[in-house]
Amino acid sequence: MNAKLRVLIALVFAIFVSQAGAQDLGVKKGKALYEQYCIGCHQAGAVGKVGFASSLSNNEFLSIVSADYLVETIKEGIEGTGMGPQAALGDEKIRAIVTYLQSLSAVSGTRAEEVAKQPPARGDVKKGAVLFQEMCAYCHGTTGIGFEAGGSGPAIGTPGFLKKASDGYIRTTIKEGRGNTMMKGFVGPEGMANLTNQEIEDIVTYLRTAPAK
Ligand code: HEC
Ligand code: HEC
Repeated sequence: MNAKLRVLIALVFAIFVSQAGAQDLGVKKGKALYEQYCIGCHQAGAVGKVGFASSLSNNEFLSIVSADYLVETIKEGIEGTGMGPQAALGDEKIRAIVTYLQSLSAVSGTRAEEVAKQPPARGDVKKGAVLFQEMCAYCHGTTGIGFEAGGSGPAIGTPGFLKKASDGYIRTTIKEGRGNTMMKGFVGPEGMANLTNQEIEDIVTYLRTAPAK
């Protein structure tokens, strides 16, 4: 091997190692910050607590959520819920916490763009409302207000949730559910119900009216 090539390989390797190292440091710092500011509600390993705070550690969530969505949710909180704004932490600490959360799944962010680009739902509001009462209300509340209604499901009918979540994000969550939580998918024989694509469109269209506003 010629000397120049060897130097080049060594350089590339050094950059790679230092980047991986920086990433580890971010995860460590983020974990410490998470344990200081978030663990009281979201629990160790961000597994969540039924009826109290969402799981942030499952693949279904972490694969469809972008880093920006996480940053904004931490900064602004989720209006009308127990998730208060944490903007006072500042950008650097918030980024470190996001790096830690994303380190909990190998598929973090991998589908965020695809899901955000999905077309808007085209369904029937009235049919969606009926389906929502049958299939979703007992966990999410009759208007989708969330934990306040006493069930296990978070707020999904509130403007605070709907302004951040795309139709693709809601649609994908209904189809697949969220691992390690009571939110199971609604498609196929294993699902909580085997909804058709059109029924899912109806439900998303109904949720877009923000029934809990
Ligand atoms: C006082 C309790 C509390 C604390 C502290 C708290 N959260 Fe939350 N968080 C909640 C609740 C409750 C929800 C669910 C709200 C809803 O949608 O109904 C939530 C939701 C979230 C969500 C959205 C999850 C989803 O599925 O859309 C993210 C992201 C989040 N929290 C991150 C954090 C991070 C990071 C911290 C620490 C900086 C933190 N939270 C601190 C209570 C808390
Ligand atoms: C058995 C209770 C249960 C039922 C029934 C249920 N959900 Fe959920 N849902 C949950 C739980 C629990 C979560 C939160 C998981 C977590 O901790 O992140 C959730 C999360 C969600 C989310 C993601 C919210 C967020 O903040 O990211 C959406 C969207 C959702 N559910 C829609 C629905 C719809 C629509 C229906 C009816 C077709 C439904 N759910 C039925 C329990 C339920």
